[in-house]
Formats: sequence, C-alpha cells, structure tokens
Amino acid sequence: MKNVYIPDIVTISEIREETPDIKTFKLIFKDKEVQRNFNYKPGQFIELSVFGYGEAPFSISSSPNQQNFFEITVKRVGDVTNALFKLNEGNAVGVRGPFGNGFPTHKFEDKNILFIGGGIGLAPLRSLINFVLSNREKYGELTLMYGARTPKDIVFKKEIETWKKHVDVHLTVDVGDETWKGTVGVVTVLFKEIEVDPKNTVAVMCGPPIMMHFVTKELLKLGFPEDQIFLSLERLMKCGIGICGHCNIGRKYVCKHGPVFTYKETKDFLETAI
Ligand SMILES: Cc1cc2nc3c(=O)[nH]c(=O)nc-3n(C[C@H](O)[C@H](O)[C@H](O)COP(=O)(O)OP(=O)(O)OC[C@H]3O[C@@H](n4cnc5c(N)ncnc54)[C@H](O)[C@@H]3O)c2cc1C
Ligand code: FES
Repeated sequence: MKNVYIPDIVTISEIREETPDIKTFKLIFKDKEVQRNFNYKPGQFIELSVFGYGEAPFSISSSPNQQNFFEITVKRVGDVTNALFKLNEGNAVGVRGPFGNGFPTHKFEDKNILFIGGGIGLAPLRSLINFVLSNREKYGELTLMYGARTPKDIVFKKEIETWKKHVDVHLTVDVGDETWKGTVGVVTVLFKEIEVDPKNTVAVMCGPPIMMHFVTKELLKLGFPEDQIFLSLERLMKCGIGICGHCNIGRKYVCKHGPVFTYKETKDFLETAI
C-alpha cells in the first residue's frame, strides 16, 4: 500500500505572475499514470512540498476539466511559499492529494450561484467557476463579487474579463489608484450592486475570515437559508488527511470534513470558524 505521507513528483511546467506577490503554477506529474489518475473536485486542495523547506496546503485553482495538468495559485507569505517563488519552470516539487471534500456541485445544479471572493480566496472559486461554465446548462444565473486590496492585487485579471460573458461580475478594491474607475470599499459594499433571490440561490465564498464573517451576516439579513451558504475555510494543517488533529473546528477536521462547510455546520464555532 502507498505511504500517504510520501509525495509524488510534479514538474512546474509554467509560472504566471498574477500580482506582485501571487503566482499561478501549472503542474504536471512526472509519472503519466499518476497524472491520468489525478481526479479532483473544485474546492479540493493539495499538500505541496518544496524539498528542503517544507510542505503547505494549496487549493487547486484549475478546473477538473483540464486533465493533462493542474494549477495552484500561491501568495508568498513564509518559508514554503518564498522557496516556491525562487523555483523556475522545469523544476520539481512534491504533491500529496487531492484532499478535502470540495464544493458539493451536485447541490448547486438548477440554482443561481453567488460567488464571493476576497484576495487569494478567488483561487478555489476559479476552479468552481470554470467547472460551472463548462457545464453551463446545469446552473442558473451566475454572479461574482470579488474584492482585492488594490487594483494591482486583483488576481486572474484576463480571465475575469472572459467570465463577464456569462457571469455578472462585480469588483471592488479597498484602496483605488489613478487607473481604477470602479467601486472602492470592502466586498460587502457590492451587495448594493446586485440583485439575488435568496430562495433559489446558493452563496459560495472564500476569503479572509473577517470578510467571510461580514458577508455571512449580510447573506443572513437578505434571507439566505443557513444551509445554502457555503464557506471554504483555512486552518493550520500538517497531515492533510484527518490524522494529526491540527486543523479541528469543534469535532470536525477542516482537512478531512472540509475545507467546504455550510454556515449551518460551522455557526456553533463562529468565533473560530469565521
Ligand atoms: C485548505 C487550504 C487551502 C489553501 N489554499 C491556498 C491557496 O490556494 N493559495 C495560497 O496562497 N494559500 C493557500 N492556503 C494558505 C497556505 O497554506 C499558507 O499560507 C501556508 O502557511 C504557506 O506556507 P509558508 O511556509 O509559505 O508560510 P508559513 O511560514 O507557514 O506562514 C506564514 C504566516 O502565515 C501564518 N499561517 C500559515 N497558515 C495559516 C492559516 N491556514 N491560517 C492562518 N494563518 C496561517 C503563519 O502562522 C505565519 O504567520 C491554504 C490553506 C489551507 C488550509
Ligand atoms: S491537518 Fe492533520 S488532521 Fe487536519
């Protein structure tokens, strides 16, 4: 039996700069058989090792429809991410996974979807949005509310433009600059710009805990049922597979039972969860 702690080797086949401190890495398993069998759902994550530096969890940002490679989008914050940013195309890293539950896309069918992202939190939502767009007929109206710190910090800029054909996109930045003609303010200011019917809409969000806290409050005020609000959570992780106990919220492990939870499941742990 395979040792779950031993990563498979992947090659970095492309690196794209999204913002001054965020890059997207296109990854391909060295072993073609492993690549063929690497099936994942939007919202799942991998544990990535930069050899000699350590391992950290990252959401898969590509859509499962891409079968010959997968992508992660990473913000440089500490040891592993700084080491990753020093690597070049052609270098190798280790990958374990995919882990976690991912978004329950079957529950979103026939419904409108309101995607809400903040900063690097758009990474798992990008996977979901592209998955939904490639199965467009199964879903209702699509709306995206996304906020970044400044215009320079907006990720997936070109792709967001292409989404606009099918998705009602609303962007905001905390601090504008001379190039920015759009909305300024935190993500919740965008609620004024959109119209949603809470009875037939699911809200799916990922972003900083403070953003998810205020967005959830607003969604509840609008009348969204607690089990129609989906949050992708982050916790400090080690094993990624429900063994070490590092990532618990209440009795659940974010790595194994999450990272996607409904508000109904997490509300008793509100202080720690959002
Ligand atoms: C399920 C999941 C999915 C993730 N997806 C992404 C992604 O798509 N892109 C991305 O850039 N990052 C993502 N992260 C966050 C990423 O794993 C951390 O930023 C990781 O710690 C980076 O490793 P590092 O060694 O560079 O930083 P470290 O040296 O470990 O940490 C840098 C700083 O961040 C703090 N920190 C680390 N992890 C967390 C955390 N989970 N919550 C709060 N504070 C933390 C540390 O305490 C430290 O202050 C995800 C995390 C989880 C749990
Ligand atoms: S990271 Fe070990 S239990 Fe979740």
